[in-house]
Amino acid sequence: MEWLKTIHVSSVALSFFGFFLRGIWMLVDSQMLQKKWVKILPHFIDAILLISATGLLYVLQWSIFDKNWLLTKIAVLFIYIGLGMLALKPGRPKAIRGSAWGAALLVYIYMVSVALTKSSYGFIEWLL
Ligand code: HEM
Repeated sequence: MEWLKTIHVSSVALSFFGFFLRGIWMLVDSQMLQKKWVKILPHFIDAILLISATGLLYVLQWSIFDKNWLLTKIAVLFIYIGLGMLALKPGRPKAIRGSAWGAALLVYIYMVSVALTKSSYGFIEWLL
């Protein structure tokens, strides 16, 4: 179980780092975003993230409906995906893409805090 959680948490960190980097490249109009490996690698990391998440659910014998914090994390994941697409898909003004990128990073940090506190309040709990 611990090794599966290590894979899950490592892919969470790698996914964040990759999204952060691609956002910077978007903001500075870098040609790096055109590279094939830059387009493919995030899908690979996100697949590992989701497969390890499914594996954890199986090992722990949990349903996503068992824990409020888990359901929150998954619901917010959809918001993150939407903001991430807005940020990285070409075509929209950079102010919008940059704002979506910043919001997506905050949402991601919130998701990590929800996982760590095992509470839907996430980092708000640390502030109280
Ligand atoms: C379909 C999506 C996901 C599912 C079903 C899922 C499920 C899980 C499960 C079952 C655990 C183990 C909890 C425990 O051992 O008590 C876990 C841990 C964790 N998850 Fe996810 N996860 C998902 C996505 C994410 C995402 C997107 C993030 C980050 C943004 C994330 C961050 C974490 C972290 C940091 C932990 C470790 C918490 C700890 O140290 O106890 N997860 N996840």
